[in-house]
Amino acid sequence: MKAETYELAPGYYAPRVLNGCWQLSLGHSLNGPLDFADIRKAFYALKERGFNTFDCADIYTGAEEFIGDFIAHLQAEGNYQEGDVQIHTKYVPDLEYLSKVDFDFTESIIDRSLERLHKSYLDVVQFHWWDYEVPGMIETAGYLKELQKKGKIKHVSVTNFDTDHLKMLVDAGITIASCQAQYSLFDLRPEKKLQTYCKENNIPLICYGTLAGGFLSEKYLGKKEEEIKPETRSQVKYLQVIEDSLGWDGYQKLLALLKEIASHYNVGISQIATKFILEQEDVACAVIGVRNSRHVEDNNRIFSFQFTEEDKKCIRAFIDGYPNLPGEPFELERTIGSKYRNIMHMNINEEEQS
Ligand SMILES: NC(=O)c1ccc[n+]([C@@H]2O[C@H](COP(=O)([O-])OP(=O)(O)OC[C@H]3O[C@@H](n4cnc5c(N)ncnc54)[C@H](OP(=O)(O)O)[C@@H]3O)[C@@H](O)[C@H]2O)c1
Repeated sequence: MKAETYELAPGYYAPRVLNGCWQLSLGHSLNGPLDFADIRKAFYALKERGFNTFDCADIYTGAEEFIGDFIAHLQAEGNYQEGDVQIHTKYVPDLEYLSKVDFDFTESIIDRSLERLHKSYLDVVQFHWWDYEVPGMIETAGYLKELQKKGKIKHVSVTNFDTDHLKMLVDAGITIASCQAQYSLFDLRPEKKLQTYCKENNIPLICYGTLAGGFLSEKYLGKKEEEIKPETRSQVKYLQVIEDSLGWDGYQKLLALLKEIASHYNVGISQIATKFILEQEDVACAVIGVRNSRHVEDNNRIFSFQFTEEDKKCIRAFIDGYPNLPGEPFELERTIGSKYRNIMHMNINEEEQS
């Protein structure tokens, strides 16, 4: 079975599950180094099954290089054309550098991504702006548009924007191909406003965190909170999200419910959690982190069944009984002093440049 695809922009199709590569970056794993030979094996197997699109970022230290190395292997095997591997990277200028960002700086970062990735163009560049108070956001998105005209970028997108600031870009005449946001059974913030705006403006949503760093899987069913030691930086974040949404008790009840529903379709909790988000309005793709080859076969299982309305309603009724995170997507993460902001690294792009 081949991956289901979504037409993100006219003529540009991506699989509905993208291979997330933050997991590959230096410092993401908290319990020792990853087995990169196994991850390369996963990349081959994913590509073989149609999951040929990689979500990465200029600031995921080592990730663009690793994907580039994979592409170099494919090239060396003589069995590769440029479109065979699609790249959705990000442009995330450092917080401390925001006021100095100009066209030349932007081009240097894009060129660095191209070089690392062994690509002559980037399929999608997702733009992130750490601080809306610092002027230059619209101009910087404009620089990406100039680079699009130069052929270095196919599509300009955004990540972690709220509705009002996305609207500012759109109103400035910048065509945005997609909007990446955290969206999961624990974090329904896109549903407040962003999703409707995106739908009305033909901007598909790309969602990350649909598995909450792996917490939405059988591995954690029945576990006590005190037994949990986060294995990744993602999990540090998603533990905060669980604390402020379902709480541990509600989270365990959700896992039990998802397990019961998964049994109707002979799949696992992770397939139910991902499919539920993929079936929400305007959702094009989910980004699922890859850190080994263990879950390769799981992606296709997401598309092996059709949800009944009853099961979807049952999940919705359950999560509606718990508090949603406050604010718009990434609002807590932008709030000075918040625990969400305090765990983020906002100045690693320049470090990487030098
Ligand atoms: N735009 C942004 O600001 C932003 C922020 C965060 C992430 N992202 C993107 O989204 C990607 C996903 O990151 P995330 O932090 O949200 O992680 P995630 O995808 O929610 O979770 C990934 C983890 O779940 C486990 N897993 C993967 N497939 C599974 C399956 N089928 N069943 C059970 N467990 C499975 C794996 O851990 P084990 O192998 O250990 O089981 C994996 O490391 C990132 O790599 C990145 O590309 C973007």
